[in-house]
Amino acid sequence: MTALSSGTSRPLRGTCRVPGDKSISHRALILGALAVGRTRIKGLLEGEDVLRTAQAVRALGARVKRDGEGSWSIDGVGIGGFSEPAEPLDLGNSGTGARLLMGAVATHAFTTFFTGDDSLRKRPMARVAHPLSQMGARITARDGMRMPLAVEGARTPLPLSYTPPVPSAQVKSAILLAGLNAPGETTVVEPNPTRDHTESLLRHFGARVEVMEIERGGRRITLTGQPELKPADLTVPGDPSSAAFPLVAALIRPGSAITITGVGINPLRAGLFATLAEMGADIDFRRQRVAGGEPVADLKAKAGALRGVDVPAARAPSMIDEYPILAVAAAFATGRTVMRGLGELRVKESDRLTTMAKGLVACGVKATIDGDDLIVEGRGGSVVGGARIAAELDHRIAMAFLVLGGAAKKPTRIDDGATITTSFPGFVALMNRLGTRIAEAKR
Ligand code: S3P
Repeated sequence: MTALSSGTSRPLRGTCRVPGDKSISHRALILGALAVGRTRIKGLLEGEDVLRTAQAVRALGARVKRDGEGSWSIDGVGIGGFSEPAEPLDLGNSGTGARLLMGAVATHAFTTFFTGDDSLRKRPMARVAHPLSQMGARITARDGMRMPLAVEGARTPLPLSYTPPVPSAQVKSAILLAGLNAPGETTVVEPNPTRDHTESLLRHFGARVEVMEIERGGRRITLTGQPELKPADLTVPGDPSSAAFPLVAALIRPGSAITITGVGINPLRAGLFATLAEMGADIDFRRQRVAGGEPVADLKAKAGALRGVDVPAARAPSMIDEYPILAVAAAFATGRTVMRGLGELRVKESDRLTTMAKGLVACGVKATIDGDDLIVEGRGGSVVGGARIAAELDHRIAMAFLVLGGAAKKPTRIDDGATITTSFPGFVALMNRLGTRIAEAKR
Protein backbone atom coordinates (compact mmCIF):
# COMPACT_ATOMS: atom_id res chain seq x y z
CA MET A 1 0.00 0.00 0.00
CA THR A 2 1.29 3.46 -0.88
CA ALA A 3 -0.80 6.20 0.67
CA LEU A 4 -0.51 9.48 -1.27
CA SER A 5 -1.53 13.02 -0.41
CA SER A 6 -2.21 15.88 -2.78
CA GLY A 7 -1.93 19.45 -1.46
CA THR A 8 -3.03 22.68 -3.11
CA SER A 9 -1.03 22.91 -6.28
CA ARG A 10 0.71 25.80 -8.03
CA PRO A 11 -0.88 26.76 -11.34
CA LEU A 12 0.02 23.95 -13.75
CA ARG A 13 2.46 24.96 -16.48
CA GLY A 14 4.45 23.23 -19.17
CA THR A 15 4.28 20.55 -21.84
CA CYS A 16 4.01 16.83 -21.25
CA ARG A 17 3.35 13.56 -23.00
CA VAL A 18 1.24 10.80 -21.46
CA PRO A 19 2.00 7.06 -21.78
CA GLY A 20 0.69 4.97 -24.65
CA ASP A 21 -2.95 4.02 -25.02
CA LYS A 22 -3.82 1.06 -22.82
CA SER A 23 -6.53 -0.39 -25.07
CA ILE A 24 -4.34 -0.23 -28.17
CA SER A 25 -1.31 -1.63 -26.31
CA HIS A 26 -3.18 -4.79 -25.20
CA ARG A 27 -4.53 -5.34 -28.70
CA ALA A 28 -1.18 -4.74 -30.40
CA LEU A 29 0.45 -7.42 -28.26
CA ILE A 30 -2.31 -9.96 -28.81
CA LEU A 31 -2.58 -9.40 -32.57
CA GLY A 32 1.22 -9.32 -32.90
CA ALA A 33 1.27 -12.69 -31.17
CA LEU A 34 -1.27 -14.05 -33.68
CA ALA A 35 0.54 -12.78 -36.78
CA VAL A 36 3.15 -14.82 -38.60
CA GLY A 37 6.50 -13.05 -38.17
CA ARG A 38 7.87 -10.07 -36.29
CA THR A 39 5.83 -7.00 -35.28
CA ARG A 40 7.54 -3.96 -33.80
CA ILE A 41 5.57 -1.69 -31.49
CA LYS A 42 6.65 1.80 -30.43
CA GLY A 43 5.08 3.79 -27.59
CA LEU A 44 3.67 0.69 -25.91
CA LEU A 45 2.23 1.44 -22.48
CA GLU A 46 4.56 -0.18 -19.97
CA GLY A 47 1.93 -0.21 -17.25
CA GLU A 48 1.27 -3.22 -15.07
CA ASP A 49 -1.91 -4.21 -17.00
CA VAL A 50 -0.17 -4.36 -20.37
CA LEU A 51 2.90 -6.09 -18.94
CA ARG A 52 0.54 -8.84 -17.73
CA THR A 53 -0.79 -9.25 -21.26
CA ALA A 54 2.79 -9.38 -22.60
CA GLN A 55 3.55 -12.11 -20.08
CA ALA A 56 0.37 -13.96 -21.02
CA VAL A 57 1.06 -14.03 -24.78
CA ARG A 58 4.57 -15.23 -23.96
CA ALA A 59 3.05 -18.05 -21.91
CA LEU A 60 0.91 -18.88 -24.96
CA GLY A 61 4.00 -19.32 -27.11
CA ALA A 62 4.81 -15.95 -28.71
CA ARG A 63 8.27 -14.47 -28.34
CA VAL A 64 7.99 -11.01 -26.78
CA LYS A 65 11.00 -8.78 -26.29
CA ARG A 66 11.51 -5.30 -24.90
CA ASP A 67 13.99 -3.51 -27.16
CA GLY A 68 14.01 -0.16 -25.33
CA GLU A 69 11.65 2.26 -23.60
CA GLY A 70 8.21 1.63 -25.11
CA SER A 71 9.77 -0.33 -28.00
CA TRP A 72 8.82 -3.98 -28.17
CA SER A 73 9.04 -6.74 -30.74
CA ILE A 74 6.86 -9.82 -30.98
CA ASP A 75 7.37 -12.93 -33.03
CA GLY A 76 3.85 -14.21 -33.58
CA VAL A 77 2.80 -17.84 -33.86
CA GLY A 78 -0.06 -17.37 -36.35
CA ILE A 79 -3.80 -17.84 -35.91
CA GLY A 80 -4.53 -21.12 -34.17
CA GLY A 81 -0.86 -21.34 -33.17
CA PHE A 82 -1.07 -20.64 -29.45
CA SER A 83 0.00 -23.51 -27.20
CA GLU A 84 -1.33 -24.55 -23.82
CA PRO A 85 0.17 -22.40 -21.05
CA ALA A 86 1.79 -24.39 -18.24
CA GLU A 87 0.59 -21.99 -15.52
CA PRO A 88 -2.61 -20.02 -14.93
CA LEU A 89 -2.56 -16.64 -16.68
CA ASP A 90 -2.64 -13.97 -13.95
CA LEU A 91 -3.97 -10.75 -15.46
CA GLY A 92 -3.57 -8.76 -12.24
CA ASN A 93 -5.97 -5.79 -12.24
CA SER A 94 -6.77 -5.93 -15.95
CA GLY A 95 -10.30 -6.66 -17.15
CA THR A 96 -9.26 -5.84 -20.71
CA GLY A 97 -6.31 -8.25 -20.74
CA ALA A 98 -8.43 -10.99 -19.18
CA ARG A 99 -11.47 -10.66 -21.43
CA LEU A 100 -9.55 -10.21 -24.69
CA LEU A 101 -7.33 -13.19 -23.97
CA MET A 102 -10.32 -15.34 -22.99
CA GLY A 103 -11.57 -14.63 -26.50
CA ALA A 104 -8.24 -15.36 -28.15
CA VAL A 105 -7.88 -18.78 -26.47
CA ALA A 106 -11.57 -19.75 -26.77
CA THR A 107 -11.01 -21.15 -30.26
CA HIS A 108 -7.74 -22.95 -29.43
CA ALA A 109 -8.22 -26.62 -28.49
CA PHE A 110 -6.63 -26.57 -25.04
CA THR A 111 -7.52 -25.35 -21.58
CA THR A 112 -6.32 -22.04 -20.15
CA PHE A 113 -6.73 -21.03 -16.51
CA PHE A 114 -7.21 -17.35 -15.68
CA THR A 115 -6.92 -15.44 -12.46
CA GLY A 116 -6.34 -11.89 -11.23
CA ASP A 117 -6.12 -9.62 -8.19
CA ASP A 118 -8.87 -9.00 -5.59
CA SER A 119 -10.55 -6.45 -7.87
CA LEU A 120 -10.48 -8.57 -11.05
CA ARG A 121 -11.71 -11.67 -9.22
CA LYS A 122 -14.89 -9.75 -8.33
CA ARG A 123 -15.66 -8.66 -11.89
CA PRO A 124 -18.33 -10.35 -14.05
CA MET A 125 -17.05 -12.64 -16.79
CA ALA A 126 -20.43 -14.00 -17.94
CA ARG A 127 -20.59 -11.23 -20.55
CA VAL A 128 -17.72 -12.89 -22.44
CA ALA A 129 -18.28 -16.47 -21.27
CA HIS A 130 -21.78 -16.48 -22.76
CA PRO A 131 -20.90 -15.64 -26.39
CA LEU A 132 -17.66 -17.65 -26.24
CA SER A 133 -19.58 -20.76 -25.21
CA GLN A 134 -21.77 -20.27 -28.25
CA MET A 135 -18.57 -20.45 -30.31
CA GLY A 136 -17.83 -23.87 -28.80
CA ALA A 137 -15.69 -23.05 -25.73
CA ARG A 138 -16.53 -24.36 -22.27
CA ILE A 139 -15.98 -21.98 -19.37
CA THR A 140 -15.93 -23.15 -15.78
CA ALA A 141 -15.72 -20.49 -13.10
CA ARG A 142 -16.48 -19.62 -9.51
CA ASP A 143 -19.97 -18.65 -8.46
CA GLY A 144 -21.34 -15.73 -10.52
CA MET A 145 -18.90 -16.56 -13.35
CA ARG A 146 -15.99 -14.93 -11.48
CA MET A 147 -12.29 -15.73 -11.70
CA PRO A 148 -10.37 -17.94 -11.22
CA LEU A 149 -11.85 -19.65 -14.24
CA ALA A 150 -10.92 -22.12 -16.95
CA VAL A 151 -11.52 -21.71 -20.67
CA GLU A 152 -11.64 -25.04 -22.42
CA GLY A 153 -11.13 -23.98 -26.02
CA ALA A 154 -13.39 -25.21 -28.81
CA ARG A 155 -12.20 -28.22 -30.79
CA THR A 156 -14.52 -27.29 -33.62
CA PRO A 157 -14.89 -23.49 -33.40
CA LEU A 158 -18.12 -21.99 -34.66
CA PRO A 159 -18.60 -18.49 -36.04
CA LEU A 160 -21.15 -16.33 -34.24
CA SER A 161 -23.49 -13.43 -34.82
CA TYR A 162 -24.06 -11.63 -31.54
CA THR A 163 -25.51 -8.45 -30.09
CA PRO A 164 -23.91 -7.80 -26.68
CA PRO A 165 -26.53 -6.89 -24.06
CA VAL A 166 -24.29 -4.07 -22.78
CA PRO A 167 -22.15 -1.75 -24.88
CA SER A 168 -18.65 -3.16 -24.28
CA ALA A 169 -15.53 -2.99 -26.42
CA GLN A 170 -14.09 -5.82 -24.37
CA VAL A 171 -16.97 -8.15 -25.22
CA LYS A 172 -16.88 -7.15 -28.89
CA SER A 173 -13.12 -7.68 -29.01
CA ALA A 174 -13.25 -11.05 -27.24
CA ILE A 175 -15.72 -12.30 -29.86
CA LEU A 176 -13.71 -10.94 -32.80
CA LEU A 177 -10.48 -12.43 -31.44
CA ALA A 178 -12.22 -15.79 -31.01
CA GLY A 179 -13.65 -15.39 -34.53
CA LEU A 180 -10.13 -15.21 -35.96
CA ASN A 181 -9.82 -18.98 -35.58
CA ALA A 182 -13.39 -19.86 -36.58
CA PRO A 183 -14.45 -20.59 -40.17
CA GLY A 184 -16.82 -18.19 -41.93
CA GLU A 185 -18.01 -14.83 -40.69
CA THR A 186 -18.24 -13.67 -37.10
CA THR A 187 -20.47 -10.66 -36.56
CA VAL A 188 -20.97 -8.31 -33.63
CA VAL A 189 -23.88 -5.86 -33.69
CA GLU A 190 -23.49 -2.73 -31.58
CA PRO A 191 -26.61 -0.61 -31.14
CA ASN A 192 -24.37 1.93 -29.38
CA PRO A 193 -20.82 1.75 -30.81
CA THR A 194 -17.79 1.34 -28.54
CA ARG A 195 -14.09 2.02 -29.16
CA ASP A 196 -13.05 0.50 -32.48
CA HIS A 197 -9.34 -0.16 -31.93
CA THR A 198 -9.75 -3.91 -32.44
CA GLU A 199 -11.39 -3.40 -35.82
CA SER A 200 -8.70 -0.90 -36.94
CA LEU A 201 -5.84 -3.09 -35.77
CA LEU A 202 -7.31 -6.26 -37.26
CA ARG A 203 -7.30 -4.46 -40.61
CA HIS A 204 -3.80 -3.16 -39.97
CA PHE A 205 -2.68 -6.79 -39.55
CA GLY A 206 -4.40 -7.80 -42.79
CA ALA A 207 -7.73 -9.28 -41.63
CA ARG A 208 -10.93 -8.55 -43.49
CA VAL A 209 -13.31 -6.56 -41.29
CA GLU A 210 -16.41 -4.87 -42.63
CA VAL A 211 -18.23 -2.21 -40.65
CA MET A 212 -21.78 -1.29 -41.64
CA GLU A 213 -23.74 1.60 -40.21
CA ILE A 214 -27.16 0.38 -39.07
CA GLU A 215 -30.23 2.19 -37.78
CA ARG A 216 -29.95 4.85 -35.04
CA GLY A 217 -26.17 5.18 -35.21
CA GLY A 218 -25.45 1.49 -34.54
CA ARG A 219 -22.83 -0.64 -36.24
CA ARG A 220 -22.52 -4.17 -37.57
CA ILE A 221 -18.95 -5.49 -37.58
CA THR A 222 -18.14 -8.58 -39.61
CA LEU A 223 -14.84 -10.43 -39.53
CA THR A 224 -13.89 -13.09 -42.06
CA GLY A 225 -12.39 -15.93 -40.05
CA GLN A 226 -9.09 -17.75 -40.48
CA PRO A 227 -7.14 -15.04 -42.28
CA GLU A 228 -3.37 -15.05 -42.24
CA LEU A 229 -2.34 -12.12 -40.08
CA LYS A 230 0.77 -10.36 -41.35
CA PRO A 231 3.13 -8.68 -38.91
CA ALA A 232 2.55 -4.93 -38.91
CA ASP A 233 4.65 -2.31 -37.13
CA LEU A 234 2.80 0.38 -35.24
CA THR A 235 3.14 3.39 -32.98
CA VAL A 236 0.74 3.68 -30.07
CA PRO A 237 -0.71 7.17 -29.48
CA GLY A 238 -0.91 8.78 -26.03
CA ASP A 239 -3.86 7.52 -24.01
CA PRO A 240 -6.75 10.03 -23.91
CA SER A 241 -7.96 8.33 -20.72
CA SER A 242 -4.62 9.18 -19.07
CA ALA A 243 -4.41 12.66 -20.61
CA ALA A 244 -7.76 13.35 -18.92
CA PHE A 245 -6.08 13.68 -15.50
CA PRO A 246 -3.50 16.44 -16.17
CA LEU A 247 -6.06 18.04 -18.50
CA VAL A 248 -8.74 18.42 -15.81
CA ALA A 249 -6.10 19.28 -13.18
CA ALA A 250 -5.12 22.28 -15.34
CA LEU A 251 -8.72 23.29 -16.10
CA ILE A 252 -9.69 23.51 -12.42
CA ARG A 253 -6.55 25.15 -11.00
CA PRO A 254 -6.76 28.90 -11.78
CA GLY A 255 -3.82 30.32 -13.70
CA SER A 256 -2.88 27.00 -15.34
CA ALA A 257 -1.94 26.53 -19.00
CA ILE A 258 -0.51 23.22 -20.23
CA THR A 259 0.03 21.31 -23.46
CA ILE A 260 -0.25 17.52 -23.73
CA THR A 261 1.28 16.24 -26.95
CA GLY A 262 0.36 13.23 -29.10
CA VAL A 263 -3.00 12.38 -27.51
CA GLY A 264 -5.37 9.97 -29.28
CA ILE A 265 -8.63 11.70 -30.20
CA ASN A 266 -10.53 8.79 -31.76
CA PRO A 267 -14.19 9.97 -31.84
CA LEU A 268 -15.24 6.80 -29.98
CA ARG A 269 -12.95 7.84 -27.10
CA ALA A 270 -13.57 11.59 -27.19
CA GLY A 271 -16.74 11.95 -25.09
CA LEU A 272 -14.88 13.70 -22.27
CA PHE A 273 -13.49 16.34 -24.64
CA ALA A 274 -17.01 17.05 -25.98
CA THR A 275 -18.41 17.27 -22.45
CA LEU A 276 -15.65 19.57 -21.18
CA ALA A 277 -16.23 21.82 -24.21
CA GLU A 278 -19.93 22.03 -23.29
CA MET A 279 -18.87 22.96 -19.76
CA GLY A 280 -16.97 25.90 -21.23
CA ALA A 281 -13.43 24.49 -20.99
CA ASP A 282 -10.72 26.18 -23.02
CA ILE A 283 -9.09 23.28 -24.90
CA ASP A 284 -7.40 23.74 -28.24
CA PHE A 285 -6.72 20.73 -30.48
CA ARG A 286 -3.49 21.55 -32.28
CA ARG A 287 -1.53 19.74 -34.99
CA GLN A 288 -4.29 17.25 -35.70
CA ARG A 289 -2.82 14.31 -37.60
CA VAL A 290 -3.03 10.55 -38.07
CA ALA A 291 -0.41 8.42 -36.31
CA GLY A 292 -0.43 4.62 -36.23
CA GLY A 293 -3.86 4.69 -37.92
CA GLU A 294 -5.43 6.77 -35.11
CA PRO A 295 -6.29 10.49 -35.06
CA VAL A 296 -3.95 12.35 -32.71
CA ALA A 297 -3.56 15.96 -31.55
CA ASP A 298 -1.68 18.16 -29.10
CA LEU A 299 -4.09 19.46 -26.47
CA LYS A 300 -3.56 22.96 -25.15
CA ALA A 301 -5.68 23.65 -22.08
CA LYS A 302 -6.17 26.77 -19.99
CA ALA A 303 -7.94 27.07 -16.66
CA GLY A 304 -11.26 28.90 -16.55
CA ALA A 305 -14.76 28.77 -15.11
CA LEU A 306 -16.75 25.61 -15.88
CA ARG A 307 -20.53 25.20 -15.82
CA GLY A 308 -22.59 22.12 -14.97
CA VAL A 309 -24.07 20.13 -17.85
CA ASP A 310 -26.35 17.20 -18.60
CA VAL A 311 -24.35 14.28 -20.01
CA PRO A 312 -26.62 11.96 -22.04
CA ALA A 313 -26.48 8.19 -21.50
CA ALA A 314 -25.71 7.68 -25.21
CA ARG A 315 -22.33 9.33 -24.68
CA ALA A 316 -21.23 6.84 -22.00
CA PRO A 317 -19.38 4.35 -24.25
CA SER A 318 -17.16 7.13 -25.65
CA MET A 319 -16.05 8.24 -22.18
CA ILE A 320 -16.71 5.23 -19.98
CA ASP A 321 -13.37 5.50 -18.14
CA GLU A 322 -13.56 9.28 -17.78
CA TYR A 323 -16.50 9.66 -15.38
CA PRO A 324 -14.35 9.72 -12.23
CA ILE A 325 -12.34 12.69 -13.51
CA LEU A 326 -15.41 14.32 -15.07
CA ALA A 327 -17.12 14.14 -11.67
CA VAL A 328 -14.13 16.05 -10.24
CA ALA A 329 -14.44 18.72 -12.96
CA ALA A 330 -18.18 18.86 -12.16
CA ALA A 331 -17.42 19.45 -8.46
CA PHE A 332 -15.48 22.62 -9.39
CA ALA A 333 -18.07 23.82 -11.94
CA THR A 334 -20.92 26.21 -11.25
CA GLY A 335 -24.28 24.46 -11.19
CA ARG A 336 -25.44 20.88 -11.38
CA THR A 337 -23.96 18.16 -13.58
CA VAL A 338 -26.07 15.10 -14.30
CA MET A 339 -24.24 12.10 -15.72
CA ARG A 340 -26.78 9.63 -17.05
CA GLY A 341 -26.80 5.91 -17.71
CA LEU A 342 -23.75 4.83 -15.70
CA GLY A 343 -24.80 1.29 -14.71
CA GLU A 344 -21.58 -0.09 -16.25
CA LEU A 345 -19.49 1.92 -13.78
CA ARG A 346 -20.59 -0.48 -11.07
CA VAL A 347 -18.50 -3.29 -12.60
CA LYS A 348 -15.24 -1.47 -13.31
CA GLU A 349 -12.06 -1.85 -11.21
CA SER A 350 -14.31 -0.69 -8.35
CA ASP A 351 -17.99 0.26 -8.16
CA ARG A 352 -17.14 3.71 -9.49
CA LEU A 353 -20.63 5.11 -9.05
CA THR A 354 -20.43 4.51 -5.30
CA THR A 355 -16.70 5.27 -4.84
CA MET A 356 -17.03 8.62 -6.61
CA ALA A 357 -20.21 9.70 -4.83
CA LYS A 358 -18.82 8.72 -1.42
CA GLY A 359 -15.45 10.35 -2.04
CA LEU A 360 -16.97 13.60 -3.29
CA VAL A 361 -19.28 13.82 -0.28
CA ALA A 362 -16.25 13.27 2.00
CA CYS A 363 -14.61 16.24 0.19
CA GLY A 364 -17.60 18.51 0.93
CA VAL A 365 -19.33 18.16 -2.45
CA LYS A 366 -22.99 17.20 -2.73
CA ALA A 367 -23.12 14.10 -4.92
CA THR A 368 -26.01 11.67 -5.22
CA ILE A 369 -26.86 8.54 -7.15
CA ASP A 370 -30.30 8.32 -8.70
CA GLY A 371 -30.78 4.91 -10.33
CA ASP A 372 -27.87 4.76 -12.80
CA ASP A 373 -27.27 8.52 -12.80
CA LEU A 374 -24.64 10.46 -10.86
CA ILE A 375 -25.59 14.00 -9.89
CA VAL A 376 -22.93 16.44 -8.70
CA GLU A 377 -23.73 19.91 -7.35
CA GLY A 378 -20.85 22.09 -8.46
CA ARG A 379 -19.20 24.35 -5.90
CA GLY A 380 -18.09 27.06 -8.29
CA GLY A 381 -14.37 26.52 -7.82
CA SER A 382 -14.47 26.14 -4.07
CA VAL A 383 -14.09 22.53 -2.98
CA VAL A 384 -13.06 21.80 0.61
CA GLY A 385 -11.19 18.50 0.15
CA GLY A 386 -9.36 17.27 3.23
CA ALA A 387 -10.73 13.73 3.05
CA ARG A 388 -9.09 10.32 3.20
CA ILE A 389 -10.32 8.35 0.23
CA ALA A 390 -10.39 4.57 -0.10
CA ALA A 391 -9.33 4.02 -3.72
CA GLU A 392 -10.63 0.40 -3.74
CA LEU A 393 -7.77 -0.90 -5.94
CA ASP A 394 -8.96 1.46 -8.66
CA HIS A 395 -6.29 3.50 -10.47
CA ARG A 396 -8.75 6.01 -11.90
CA ILE A 397 -10.37 6.69 -8.52
CA ALA A 398 -6.89 7.22 -7.05
CA MET A 399 -5.85 9.67 -9.79
CA ALA A 400 -9.20 11.51 -9.78
CA PHE A 401 -8.97 12.36 -6.08
CA LEU A 402 -5.30 13.35 -6.33
CA VAL A 403 -6.37 15.81 -9.04
CA LEU A 404 -9.18 17.07 -6.80
CA GLY A 405 -6.69 17.65 -3.98
CA GLY A 406 -4.59 19.92 -6.21
CA ALA A 407 -7.38 22.47 -6.54
CA ALA A 408 -9.14 21.96 -3.19
CA LYS A 409 -8.63 24.00 -0.01
CA LYS A 410 -7.29 21.14 2.10
CA PRO A 411 -4.92 18.31 1.14
CA THR A 412 -6.67 15.11 0.07
CA ARG A 413 -5.34 11.64 0.74
CA ILE A 414 -5.84 8.31 -0.93
CA ASP A 415 -5.15 5.09 0.95
CA ASP A 416 -3.31 3.39 -1.89
CA GLY A 417 -1.82 4.71 -5.12
CA ALA A 418 -0.02 1.49 -6.07
CA THR A 419 -2.59 0.64 -8.76
CA ILE A 420 -1.84 3.86 -10.67
CA THR A 421 1.00 2.01 -12.40
CA THR A 422 -1.57 -0.27 -14.06
CA SER A 423 -2.37 2.47 -16.57
CA PHE A 424 -0.20 5.52 -15.88
CA PRO A 425 3.35 4.76 -14.75
CA GLY A 426 5.10 8.02 -13.87
CA PHE A 427 1.83 9.80 -13.03
CA VAL A 428 3.06 11.43 -9.81
CA ALA A 429 6.35 12.66 -11.31
CA LEU A 430 4.60 14.00 -14.43
CA MET A 431 1.93 15.83 -12.42
CA ASN A 432 4.46 17.30 -10.00
CA ARG A 433 6.59 18.54 -12.91
CA LEU A 434 3.52 20.45 -14.09
CA GLY A 435 2.96 21.95 -10.63
CA THR A 436 0.97 19.62 -8.37
CA ARG A 437 2.14 18.64 -4.88
CA ILE A 438 1.54 14.93 -4.68
CA ALA A 439 3.67 13.05 -2.18
CA GLU A 440 3.76 9.86 -0.17
CA ALA A 441 1.58 10.39 2.89
CA LYS A 442 2.84 9.57 6.35
CA ARG A 443 0.74 6.94 8.05
C1 S3P B 1 -11.73 -1.22 -22.75
C2 S3P B 1 -13.10 -1.14 -22.75
C3 S3P B 1 -13.88 -0.57 -21.64
C4 S3P B 1 -13.00 0.26 -20.71
C5 S3P B 1 -11.70 -0.41 -20.40
C6 S3P B 1 -10.92 -0.66 -21.68
C7 S3P B 1 -11.06 -1.85 -23.90
O1 S3P B 1 -14.46 -1.62 -20.90
O2 S3P B 1 -13.68 0.54 -19.52
O3 S3P B 1 -10.90 0.37 -19.53
O4 S3P B 1 -9.83 -1.69 -24.05
O5 S3P B 1 -11.75 -2.53 -24.67
P1 S3P B 1 -15.88 -2.29 -21.31
O6 S3P B 1 -15.70 -2.95 -22.61
O7 S3P B 1 -16.17 -3.26 -20.22
O8 S3P B 1 -16.85 -1.14 -21.34
